[in-house]
Amino acid sequence: MGYKNKKIAFFDAKPYDRKSFDSVNKDFGFDITYFDTHLNPKTVELAYNFDAICAFVNDTIDKKVLESLYKHDIKVIALRSAGYNNVDFKAAFGRVHVVRVPAYSPYAVAEHAAALILALNRKTHRAYYRIRDGNFSINGLLGFDMNGKTAGIIGTGKIGKCLISILKGFGMKILAYDVYKDEKYEKEAGIKYVDLDELFKKADVISLHCPLTPETEHMINEDTIKKMKDGVMIINTGRGKLINTRALIKMLKSGKLGSAGLDVYEEEGEYFFKDFSTEMISDDILARLMTFPNVLITSHQGFFTAEAIHNIAVTTLDNIKEFFDGGYLKNEICYKCDLKECLKDKNQRCF
Ligand code: NAI
Repeated sequence: MGYKNKKIAFFDAKPYDRKSFDSVNKDFGFDITYFDTHLNPKTVELAYNFDAICAFVNDTIDKKVLESLYKHDIKVIALRSAGYNNVDFKAAFGRVHVVRVPAYSPYAVAEHAAALILALNRKTHRAYYRIRDGNFSINGLLGFDMNGKTAGIIGTGKIGKCLISILKGFGMKILAYDVYKDEKYEKEAGIKYVDLDELFKKADVISLHCPLTPETEHMINEDTIKKMKDGVMIINTGRGKLINTRALIKMLKSGKLGSAGLDVYEEEGEYFFKDFSTEMISDDILARLMTFPNVLITSHQGFFTAEAIHNIAVTTLDNIKEFFDGGYLKNEICYKCDLKECLKDKNQRCF
């Protein structure tokens, strides 16, 4: 078979990646070499003698990297993620195929978003430390009933829909915004699509589930936060750059924002997934965010469930197998339309 023993350079490898990929690879027989480092213009030469690349969310797949891979006859990059904002599509077009894992467990991310909402509301992250310190006071831990409150969900794809079904279980009203409205789903789920301004005005909790694109970059900024309810909770398990973090901090300091749950951060590449517990955090914005009692940061762990990482390994290796088998790449990203047409109809490709 054409794909057996093909050499894969696996970047940003963590112990749990090795475990799940080694286990799933028993059925594929690839020759995988794990690199701890990120893929970027400085490290790309590590990949020169390989047949395929496996990369993750904080690897840099820019023009330099793509041209360099192409020159060394490496024609496939398998992202082990759903998001693909770290890829320069135009530079990849005609040179390197980029495949991804479009769905591995929307439940994992949606359930993590729900966990952030519940923790911030009832302040369990603070209660945990109080009790360990022998402080049994509940002063300052006041929450609100989720029942009857309004959630504003931006992006009603796989993860957004999952979160909606969870929040409906709490008795929340749902307002949604998506550039492509799913009207059948709107009726069936009993939710309401509104424009962004109305969502900002009426939601008590706002959760972001759209991709990062030039249109969505910094969609949460000082102007949009000013349109929101006083004390609103913002949850971001999408991508860091959906939020202008400086504006978020300003609005938290002013008291306009009630709380923020962040599984992603604009400049996360430097810190997330790594242990800095014995070092200094030199990113002053991240350091400031970490000081707020009403901000809960997790290190891009929304995807991190046993089911999800198993599914990621299966789909990633299957995507690479498809490439070497010379078949249709069902999980290839479209770089021709800048994703606009492809997002319109998920069954249509324009390349
Ligand atoms: P999906 O493709 O199923 O849904 C995305 C939705 O966003 C679609 O309905 C699309 O029409 C909508 N959309 C596109 N542009 C928009 C815009 N300008 N405004 C509003 N909506 C827009 O994707 P899925 O699986 O639900 O994932 C959503 C995002 O979650 C991913 O793009 C990724 O960035 C992030 N993610 C985060 C993870 C984590 O571990 N924290 C793990 C997996 C995904």
